[in-house]
Amino acid sequence: MSLNIPRVKLVLKPTPLYKMVNLSTDLGVNLYIKRDDLSLLSFGGNKLRKLEYTLADAINKGCDTIVTTGSLTSNHAMLTAMAAKKLGLNVVLVLRSREPQFSRKVKGNLLIEHLLKARVEVFDVGKEDVNIAMKEVVESLKREGKKPYVLPLGGASPLGLLGYYDFVYEVLEQSKNMKIDFDYIVFATGSGGTQAGILLGVKKLKLKTRVIGVSDGTLAKYLKEKIYTLANTSSKKYNIGVKVDYNDIIVDERASFGGYGKFTRELIETISYVVKREGILLDPLYTGKA
Ligand SMILES: Cc1ncc(COP(=O)(O)O)c(C=O)c1O
Repeated sequence: MSLNIPRVKLVLKPTPLYKMVNLSTDLGVNLYIKRDDLSLLSFGGNKLRKLEYTLADAINKGCDTIVTTGSLTSNHAMLTAMAAKKLGLNVVLVLRSREPQFSRKVKGNLLIEHLLKARVEVFDVGKEDVNIAMKEVVESLKREGKKPYVLPLGGASPLGLLGYYDFVYEVLEQSKNMKIDFDYIVFATGSGGTQAGILLGVKKLKLKTRVIGVSDGTLAKYLKEKIYTLANTSSKKYNIGVKVDYNDIIVDERASFGGYGKFTRELIETISYVVKREGILLDPLYTGKA
């Protein structure tokens, strides 16, 4: 049952769900894929479902500028900029990079942010200190007379994760039509929002499906605590009426391939194998690991 909370439309639902025939034969399992990369906005990905809720909230609160954060390569930052611009909102991206300025090339997501004419501020700080930079940016926007709305790293807020609570209802509907039951849902986990939302949905619908987040390189212990707090805060705040137990949270670190943003030969081989067998190009930071 869909929640009665305002949303903007950024995702073409339901996104396709189908069997990867070649991989299933090769691996001797029935492997399905849910194509959240195919969406209303280019690149799609898992950020748009969260942004449907959070950007609606920003608009309803009369905010005019979205402020968010991530690494220099952040998909969340790029998609927030794309979605916010489409909705006529300003964007400020507070990005982290330890690279010296002269070696930073305008490529990848940074290039798209440049084309979007998003305001990008890069700080030479770690994950821990970026909130200080965010606060400074927010204060300066207020002094300029703007009304900022802050989105956390990865869009992982109790409101945003509801996008992945809804996702479970969508999967259930599709799997009923296809007459299959899924044993596992597997995906990449980084800021924890996707996993917290899926866990809430699975719990609410009393499904037996196990939920496995493959860490993007973030420490499992830290992620599990974050997911626990996010899921249960959201459940209380939006009257979902379920409690996620710590033991329900599985974060698998085995496929982190050397840590966040690190590429190994094994990772490249995995990506190469999937694109050759299924014509699906996984990315090296997230889906390639999952
Ligand atoms: C394609 C993709 N998959 C998974 C994730 C991880 O999701 P979350 O941050 O909700 O844990 C990200 C985060 O940027 C992503 O871009």
